[in-house]
Amino acid sequence: MEAREAILTRRSIRAYTDQPVSNEDLQEILECGLYAPSCSNMQPWHFVVVRSPEAKRKVDELMGVVAKSVEPDLQQAFEGHPEVVEETCSFIRQLGGAPVYVLVFWQKPDFNGKDPKVLSLSIGAAIENMLVAARAKGIGSCWLTAPLDAGVGENLRAAFAPDNGQFCSLLTLGYPAKEGKAPRRKINRYEFV
Ligand SMILES: Cc1cc2nc3c(=O)[nH]c(=O)nc-3n(C[C@H](O)[C@H](O)[C@H](O)COP(=O)(O)O)c2cc1C
Repeated sequence: MEAREAILTRRSIRAYTDQPVSNEDLQEILECGLYAPSCSNMQPWHFVVVRSPEAKRKVDELMGVVAKSVEPDLQQAFEGHPEVVEETCSFIRQLGGAPVYVLVFWQKPDFNGKDPKVLSLSIGAAIENMLVAARAKGIGSCWLTAPLDAGVGENLRAAFAPDNGQFCSLLTLGYPAKEGKAPRRKINRYEFV
């Protein structure tokens, strides 16, 4: 698949089949993350691939807390659309049945007083590389920061990466059970001068 096609057709997938993702595919997806550009080549990321039933159970328990915590905000944001609230909370609770989660940590949250945005930009580049690489293999993904919003980042750090910085995102990976619909894009967000 061409890069453009992979980028344009990547969607956030919120329902997965139980087909496992092979080791080889996971390694290649992670490699694409590791080859992202980063500020001063800091490579300020650490990825934890969660796929054993025990490890997934630990994450799922915390996601129950996340779903409860974000529900009131969703009810406010989607007033009159209870189906959206229910669908979103159900995805957050069960992560769409994804066979693999990737927890993303900021390795160097206090690097030399640099603006934290440079870390965040670098990590965003690594995450997007992985999502596009997954898409090119027919593997679906969703990028979540809801655990951060709900304040369970510290629990995820303590459980999975106590010595590797701060939690910043959770990614789901797996084969789509349902394709995502592309939300409308603002096509005028650039200009030539
Ligand atoms: C930084 C970031 C955080 C996100 N957090 C969540 C999330 O917590 N839950 C969720 O369902 N989707 C989350 N998303 C997915 C976005 O909702 C999605 O990318 C957007 O609606 C565009 O849809 P598309 O990915 O299918 O193109 C997040 C995306 C990004 C980039």
